[in-house]
Amino acid sequence: MQQVLSEVKQQLEQTLGESRRVFHGRGHCFPGFEHLVIDWFPPFAVARIYKDVEPEWVEQLCETLKVIEQIKGLVVQQRSRGRESSQQIIWGDIPEQMNTTELGLLYKVKPQRNQNSGLFLDMREGRRWVIDNATGKRVLNLFSYTCAFSVAAIAGGADHVVNVDMSRGAINTGKDNHRLNDLPAEKTTFLAYDLFRSWKKVKQRGPYDLIVIDPPSFQPGSFVAEQDYKKVLRRLSDLTTVGGQVLACHNDPKNGTDFLKDLMLQECPGFQFKKRLDNPSDFPEAEIEKGLKVLLYVREQ
Ligand SMILES: C[S@@+](CC[C@H](N)C(=O)[O-])C[C@H]1O[C@@H](n2cnc3c(N)ncnc32)[C@H](O)[C@@H]1O
Repeated sequence: MQQVLSEVKQQLEQTLGESRRVFHGRGHCFPGFEHLVIDWFPPFAVARIYKDVEPEWVEQLCETLKVIEQIKGLVVQQRSRGRESSQQIIWGDIPEQMNTTELGLLYKVKPQRNQNSGLFLDMREGRRWVIDNATGKRVLNLFSYTCAFSVAAIAGGADHVVNVDMSRGAINTGKDNHRLNDLPAEKTTFLAYDLFRSWKKVKQRGPYDLIVIDPPSFQPGSFVAEQDYKKVLRRLSDLTTVGGQVLACHNDPKNGTDFLKDLMLQECPGFQFKKRLDNPSDFPEAEIEKGLKVLLYVREQ
C-alpha cells in the first residue's frame, strides 16, 4: 500500500483544488494494483476496486488513505466482474450530489454513484484543447453525456454547440452544468435522442466547424464501436465544410489508434489526421495504445 500512499499524495499536490484521478492502477504502472483507481472530487476521494478482494485488503486501503488529512471523506465502490457492485461510505459527510471544478469550470457530479459520476476525468486534455480552439465555431457534440465538452466549448468562445445524447438525465445535467457556469442558454441546443434516429435534426442545425465524437465502447443496443463507429464517421462529410475539424475519441483498451485511423481512411478519405492529444498525467499508462485515444482530424477536401 506504500506505493498507493505515495502516488496519491503526489497527485494531490498537483490538484490545485480541482478534480483529478489520484491513483490510476488500471494503467498497469503500479504492479499488484491494476484493479484500483481513486478519483478526487475535493475534498472527497472515490476508490473503485475492479476485482474481488478480501475485506482485509479494503480495510488496509482505507487505513492507508485515512492518514491523508486533505481527504475529508472516502467512498469505496466494488465493481468486480460478474458481481453486483456495492459501495460504502467509509468516512465523511459525502453528499449525493456536489459541484466540482476542472480547468476553472464547474461540473455537477455524484461521487456516491456506482457507475459514472458525471465527469470523465480522463478527458481533461480533450476539454482543454476544446477551450483553446473553439472560438467562433459551430460545434457538434455527439454522445455528449453531461455536456462537459459543450461547457468547455462555450467557455472557449464557441458560437453555438449542439449536444446529442440519448440519455435525458445526462442532458438535463448538461443543462445544469451550463447554468452553473453562467453560460448563455441561447448558444446551446440539447437533443435527447438516439443519434442513429436523428441524423436529419443534426444535419439541419449544421454545418459544423468542429465535431466531437466520444461514444461508449460497448453499450449493446445503443452503440458498439466495432459495428457502429463507422456509421457515425460516414456522416462527417455531410455535416462539415472544408476546414472543419473532428475530435474522434475511443476508450477501449483492446483497440489502439489504428482502429480509428483505419475507419477514418475508409469512411472519410477527405479528412487528414493531425495529431493524437496527450492524455492527462494523472492517467499513466504502461502501454499508451491501451489508454484513451483522442485523434484530431481536419477536412481538407
Ligand atoms: C462515454 S459517454 C460520453 C462522454 C461525454 N462525451 C463526455 O464528455 O463526458 C457515452 C454516452 O453516449 C450515449 N449514447 C450511447 N449510445 C447512443 C446513441 N445511439 N445515441 C445517442 N447517445 C448515445 C450514452 O447515453 C452516454 O451518455
